[in-house]
Formats: sequence, C-alpha cells, structure tokens
Amino acid sequence: MKQNPASLSERIAISEKVTVFAPATVANVIAGFDVLGFAVEELGDEVSVAFTNGGLVTLDDVTGDGGFLPHEAERNIASLMVSQYIDQLRQRIRSGDLHTSRVSIVPESGLGVSVRLQKGLPIGSGLGSSSASIAAALMAINELFGAPLSIDELIPLAMEGERITCGTAHPDNVVPALLGGLILIRSKDPLDLVPVSYPKGLYCSILHPEIEILTRDARKALPEHIELAQYVRQSAHLAGMILGFETGNLELLRKSMQDEIVEPIRAKMIPGFYKMKEAALREGAIGFGISGSGPSLFALSKTKDCASSILEAIQTVAEKEGISSTATLTRISSRGARKVSI
Ligand code: HSE
Repeated sequence: MKQNPASLSERIAISEKVTVFAPATVANVIAGFDVLGFAVEELGDEVSVAFTNGGLVTLDDVTGDGGFLPHEAERNIASLMVSQYIDQLRQRIRSGDLHTSRVSIVPESGLGVSVRLQKGLPIGSGLGSSSASIAAALMAINELFGAPLSIDELIPLAMEGERITCGTAHPDNVVPALLGGLILIRSKDPLDLVPVSYPKGLYCSILHPEIEILTRDARKALPEHIELAQYVRQSAHLAGMILGFETGNLELLRKSMQDEIVEPIRAKMIPGFYKMKEAALREGAIGFGISGSGPSLFALSKTKDCASSILEAIQTVAEKEGISSTATLTRISSRGARKVSI
C-alpha cells in the first residue's frame, strides 16, 4: 500500500500494527569475545508498534519488566530505537538517499507511533535482554513503514542501541537477535558478518542465577592489554571452535570451548562458577561458560537428557551457594527477529 506523501496525516491507518518477537542470544560463546553469538529458541522480547496521529513516539505499555525499566518514551530503549529509526528514515529521504516510493508512509511531522514492549527476558541477565528489545523494536518499526531498510541497514542502528544501553556498540547480541543462527562478526567496521553452520542436534542448557551483573561493569573489569602468548592460545581456541561447529566435530569443539582471558575475570562475579563448570562437564557438556557478560551460564550438549542433567547439576550447585536460579532447556535457533500475529 503506497501512499501519497502529501496526504499523510489524514490517511494514516491508525489500526495498522506490527508485532515483532526477537530472541535471546548467547554472546561470546566462550572463546569468541565480542565476535561470536547465537540466537536461542523460545526466550525473547516482543515489541508492537502502531501509527498514531499524535506526532510523537509514545511508550504505551511495558510488561514483564518487574517495574525495572524506564517507562518514559525518551528513556526506554525500545521507544528510543523507534525514534532513532524515524529520524534516520527522515534524514535519508531528505538527502535523497531513500526514495519515498520505498516507504508505505512518509514520516511527516503529524505522524506518531505508539510502542508497546513485552519483556520475556530478565534484565541484566547476560541473555541479550536489551538487544532483544532493540532488534524487535527496529524490525517492528521497519515493517510498519513497509520494510524500506534491509536488515543489514538496521544493524548499525541496533549497535548504536547497544552503545546507549551499555556503553559499547558490541554486535554479538544484536546481530544474532536480528538474523538468528550462530554468527561470526568478522569485522565491525566495515560490517562483515559470517553465518557459521552448526550441528542441528545440539541442545543448550541455560541457567540464569538471580544475581545482577551489568554489562557496563563486566566490561570495565577486563584488561585493556593481554599477553601475546594468551592471544595465540585464544586464537587457536576460537579457530578450533569455528571449525568444530562447521564440521560437526564435537571433540574438536569440546577441546576448543575455552577462554583464558575473559572468563577468569568474570567468573569471580558468579559465586560457584567453577563448581558449576566442573558439574556441567562431568554431566557431559561439550562446553560450559558465561553467556555474554553474565550472570547467565550456558552449556552445549548432544542430547536432551544430557542437557537436563547438566541443568539439574548446576542448579544444585547454585542452590548450595544460596543463589536462586531459573533453568531453561533450549537450542540454537536459526530464526532471528520476526513478525508475529497476535
Ligand atoms: N561481548 C559482550 C561482552 C556481550 O561480553 O561484554 C555482552 O552481553
């Protein structure tokens, strides 16, 4: 449905609404700090957007956040992303970089958008909670305008969203949240993304201990420089992991899922981390580590039974440490942010 730009305000279909679900993501995947991440099944956030005549981006509902997120449109990342998207659309149309024939409605001054966010992910969990909101918001508003921007064009905006929420524009959550699958970010600038294939039968056990670790703080704790010998070993682990995923060589994957740079520092923020790691590996995990900046932990395994035993074992350790936790048995998902009908 292409509209005449001149007649915009009167012709906005107020009832037009798009809802997008974006998945939780496991960033770093142990040896791939800031360059590797995968989407998971089922867990995620939903953002709905609809045109209004109000001339503003409004945040009309936030649910599932336990009252922890800002409910003001200019402070919540979902509505903020919608505003930034509209600004960029306007700029690109004005500069002639994007022709109005590519948008279903031109974002003129009378145009407003109502945003609703339904959090399905715990905040500050290490499961890409802000990324899921960012990816869902960007894809939803793009769809509402008739998808004038490609997913690749949404990625820089999504990375900017990460910068706003945690101080750095790391792409290893937002990219798999938008695209799905396991993705290697070979280069951030210029952006070069490489989907990595993986054995489809793998299970992913996720434990979310109820402690808070802010990505911003977890990044500040890291060293600015590392030793050459560490770099050499870590490169070998990452190369072995990628090859293990691609070829389905689980033994290579098992040997390579190691991180001697970031994990030892962040493990100190998670009580019982090494006991959990030992328990997970004893139960047959191919690899066990911190999801993103934590506190969530993840393990990959070959069978559902193994994935359940791992969850039981690590949850027991967490309990002994006096930490409540939520366990999720899931898989790597090939699907990223997508429209849902509600
Ligand atoms: N690569 C990022 C980090 C992911 O580890 O800080 C944050 O979820």
